[in-house]
Formats: sequence, structure tokens, C-alpha cells
Amino acid sequence: MVSGVVRVVSFSILGLGGFLTLFVMYYQSAPSQICPPQPALPRHYSKPPENSSLSKKQPEPDKPIMLLWFWPENRRFDFSDCTTFFNIDGCQLTDDRSLYNKADGVLIFHKSINHDLSNLPPSPRPPFQKWIWYHVESPTNTIRIPGLENLFNLTLSYREDADIPVRWRLTARKGQGEDFVLPKKDKLVCWIVSNNNPATGTAVRDNYYRELVKHIKVDLFGKAFARFLRYEDYYSTLSSCKFYLSFENSVHRDYITEKLNGPLAAGTVPVVLGPPRQNYEDFVPGDSFIHVNDFPNAKALAEFLLKLDKDEEAYLRYFQWRRNLFAQQHLIQLSQEFIQSICYACDHIGKHKEYRVVHDLYKWYLV
Ligand SMILES: *[C@@H]1O[C@H](CO)[C@@H](O)[C@H](O)[C@H]1NC(C)=O
Ligand SMILES: *[C@@H]1O[C@H](CO)[C@@H](O)[C@H](O)[C@H]1NC(C)=O
Repeated sequence: MVSGVVRVVSFSILGLGGFLTLFVMYYQSAPSQICPPQPALPRHYSKPPENSSLSKKQPEPDKPIMLLWFWPENRRFDFSDCTTFFNIDGCQLTDDRSLYNKADGVLIFHKSINHDLSNLPPSPRPPFQKWIWYHVESPTNTIRIPGLENLFNLTLSYREDADIPVRWRLTARKGQGEDFVLPKKDKLVCWIVSNNNPATGTAVRDNYYRELVKHIKVDLFGKAFARFLRYEDYYSTLSSCKFYLSFENSVHRDYITEKLNGPLAAGTVPVVLGPPRQNYEDFVPGDSFIHVNDFPNAKALAEFLLKLDKDEEAYLRYFQWRRNLFAQQHLIQLSQEFIQSICYACDHIGKHKEYRVVHDLYKWYLV
């Protein structure tokens, strides 16, 4: 539903001509706790393999097997990326369905499930096997497929109360903090938008933007504005802006995507529209961003940004968090969109053996 380019965790960028369409949306970011796997630096321009190398590998009997039942949106990657980017290799990841009867975990991408459930794995299910419901869209962009109650054992989502929560998180700095040097700025407010399909819930942010732009200049990029950004220009473009509109496509608890992580990683102040400030502060320091709800209206926000533009000292206070915390650049290529979540599922299956059943999936998710 949300078209190929839209994403929950959304972000976006664009490619043109001979270049790939860039992109940036997706999982969320941030945290208060340091979470287990530490992402390595993104490898930006690698081409995804045509075939999964997985299926060719010999089984490693000592590691639990996690079977990826569907390739999400057919965005394939090499499973060794889990080691490369996240230092995760606690399971044997495979897309080889002939290993179904041996698989400890089966990762099932919600959006790929047929409405008549005909493409789910076969019965009987091995008794030790856990099915993982894999969904990273917000409730606004979730199709309710009937019959999924009492089928799954684990949930994977951007929600913090999922069994396997996925987002890009801030990490604690080791030792001395950096001496932060503010990147050179030649733009005031920027916004990259790939998706402006109102059916995906974007009306709130679109309306806010239309008000805001009456009072302050906004540099627009992205597919929605036919102004494509190449992958390799994503972080440098963000860096060149003083503020970035981290506007989520729909407003839901914990639905805080890479749209927040991008500016934090790039040395830019995010202006967020999404769940309440308090929810953002579950993941990032309260002085690292500006929330639209901090102002009575878009005009007041614009006035505040214009004032900050002239007050270097006040502006720099938005970067103090960097003394103790670090924002990792998230993966931005379209083909890399699902790497983090799949790797986290692998990590979980490698570490947790408990018995569990998810009874009312939608009652939990679609609140
Ligand atoms: C991918 O797999 C197909 C079918 O097994 C094979 O014909 C093709 O050569 C493979 N491509 C690569 C790049 O390995
Ligand atoms: C997984 O969930 C199914 C369906 O509710 C249940 O029958 C099965 O016992 C559960 N298995 C594990 C290992 O938790």
C-alpha cells in the first residue's frame, strides 16, 4: 500500500538517470539504553547480490536456523551483511525453504502474506519452531489480514514493546567526547520527501508544512518534489541545513524513524512531527531536537527557527548531547531497507529460547 518508496521508517532520497533512486525511510532511531548490536559503518554503494549466498552455504549445526520466508519487497541482500554492519552472526540465516523443518525461527513479512493465508509455511509446524510476525509500517499503513491471531510466537516491529524492537539508536560514547565541529551550513530548513500519498496518512505533516512555508524558506528534496538526491549526497545535504523536518508520515507511539536519526547523525537539528515529545525523549535527549508541539502554531515555530538562526550560542546547545552520545549513520539505500530488522531477528533467535505465543496480534498493534 504504501508504495514502494514509502516507508515506515521512512526516509527517502532519490536517484536519477543512471543513478539509483535514493531513499531514506525506515526504522527509527535512538535510545536511552545502549542496545546490543552495534552497527558498523554503512557500506553505501554496494550492489546487492543477485542470489542469496545463504542457500549455498553449508548448514552450521551449532547455530539456530532462521528462515526468511519472504524477501521483503524483494529487496535482497547478502546475509553476511549482518556481520558486516551489526556484528551479528548468532544464527544461520537462510532463505532456503527446504530447511523449514529444521528452522528454529521463521521470519514472516506481514505485507507479503496472502489474504487467504495460502502462502504461509505449511503444517504441521515443528514444535520447537517460532514464527516471527515482521512488520515495520505504522498502524495507519497496516492492512489487517484476517486469521493471524494465535499463529505467531514473536513480534518484530518499531514498537518498543515488540519482542524484537528495531530502530537506529544513539549509542554511548566511549571515553572522551568528540570536539564537535558544526558542519558548514548554507541552508536554513530542509526536507526530503519521497512519499506524499495522502492515503498513507501524510495529511497532517503536509498541512503543517504548508503553514510553515508561509513564514520560512524550506529547501525541498525528494521524489515528491522531483528533486532527487543521490545516496551519496544524503548525509552531506542534511549537514548543509541548520534544521531538518523530521516529519513522520503518520503519528503513532514509538513510530519515530530514520527521519530523526539522519539529521542527528549529520549534525543538523531535527524539527520533529510525530508522537508527543515525551515519546521522543524515550529515545533521544530532549535538547537534541525541536518538537512542533512546543509551539502554538507553525508561525511561532518559524519565528523560533529564524531567531535561532541568528543566535549561534543557542543553536549550538542543540548539539551538547554529542558529548556523551553518538548517532550512527543508518543504511540509506533502498536495497538495504530491511537489513537491520532481519539481522536483529537473527540475533534474537540466537539468544532466546523461551516458549511464547502471540494471541491477539491486532489488539496489541492496532490500538
Ligand atoms: C543466480 O541463480 C540462477 C539460478 O540458480 C543462476 O542461473 C544465476 O547464474 C545466478 N546468478 C548469480 C549472479 O550467481
Ligand atoms: C508458537 O505458537 C504456536 C501457535 O500459537 C504454538 O502452537 C507453539 O507451541 C508456539 N511455539 C513456541 C516454541 O513457542
